[in-house]
Amino acid sequence: MNVNCHISGLGVSVPDKILTNQDLEKIMDTSDEWIVTRTGIKTRHIVKDNENISDYAFLAAVKAIEEAQISFSEITHVLVATCTPETLSPSVACVLAEKLALSAYSGLQLISSHNPGLVCLDFNAACSGFVYGLELARAFLALNPHATILLVAAECLSRKMNYQDRSTSILFGDAAGACIISAKGNALFRLLDVSVGADGDYKDLIRIGGGTDKKVQVGDTISEDFFLTMQGREVFKYAVRGMAQESLKLLHKNALQAEDIDLFIAHQANLRIIDAVRERLQLPQEKVFTNLDKYGNTSAASIVLAMAEAREQGILKKGQKIVLTAFGAGLTWGSALLAS
Ligand code: UT7
Repeated sequence: MNVNCHISGLGVSVPDKILTNQDLEKIMDTSDEWIVTRTGIKTRHIVKDNENISDYAFLAAVKAIEEAQISFSEITHVLVATCTPETLSPSVACVLAEKLALSAYSGLQLISSHNPGLVCLDFNAACSGFVYGLELARAFLALNPHATILLVAAECLSRKMNYQDRSTSILFGDAAGACIISAKGNALFRLLDVSVGADGDYKDLIRIGGGTDKKVQVGDTISEDFFLTMQGREVFKYAVRGMAQESLKLLHKNALQAEDIDLFIAHQANLRIIDAVRERLQLPQEKVFTNLDKYGNTSAASIVLAMAEAREQGILKKGQKIVLTAFGAGLTWGSALLAS
């Protein structure tokens, strides 16, 4: 699909509250040594009791909007990748649009009178959400080349952690990232191509309950399946295979070799998974950016969080070819090719 797709602003926001491996040692049978060796994670940021993920989505969105030098009234689409929305309805996208409209117009006004035809949409591709969002943005731009899309990836995994389940609860953290995508604009990145996939046969490998699958009544106690459950070892195998294959497929389609990539950013799930993918692509260590040691697995937000930090550290810079790749519940996966 030949669509001009420019990313012109990027912003991230993470909660101040930090949950360290040492904190986890106090509440479950685990150790810093096990977590670091098996995953590479040292800390994760989690929301405070009085916070919601839309608060962080808002902060990230404001940064992206400011960098893109646009106003909220120019936005035509608010797309939010999340598998941990604060409510099943309204969508985080609508909550975010209200927060942005209030800050933009400093008064209670109907957004629709400022952004006629505004599209607000949450979508759930789990940890592949940001890459799926690039595919969605590209499709919306093909429909309307004048669209200005706010793509947000925001997750509050900490509220879906069963801290009695040591094999999964040590992995996840909360974060939000946002970017502005349009066909014009002063691009930080150009989306050259994106490719996504899914296979529902593996739907039970990662699951987050708390939907409408069970009849509940006021006063019922929460059961284990309200939380995120995962068959970690199985997911590990598919994650390595999925991210490596999708990235190679995308490179091949664009007549590129792995050696043509300047920077590789994979979903930050586990350092051992990223390393196995890196080996399959035969990439040197210095071309692979990771920051999961600080944030853990922030699901859909992890790639945009890594992009922002790689840019801040001068690792992601102008003139590069960048491959993003993700894998998550569903199972879902996807890879994107960007030029900076
Ligand atoms: O973002 C969505 C995609 N998700 C992923 O990509 C996650 C993929 N999976 C993984 O990252 C890894 O499978 C885990 C980190 C979840 C687990 O690592 P593992 O090396 O696959 O460990 P394991 O599940 O095979 O468990 C090995 C041992 C077990 O003990 P035994 O049975 O060998 O005695 C576990 O009970 O480690 C034990 N264990 C722990 N020990 C200390 C599991 N969790 C812990 C823990 N602390 N937190």
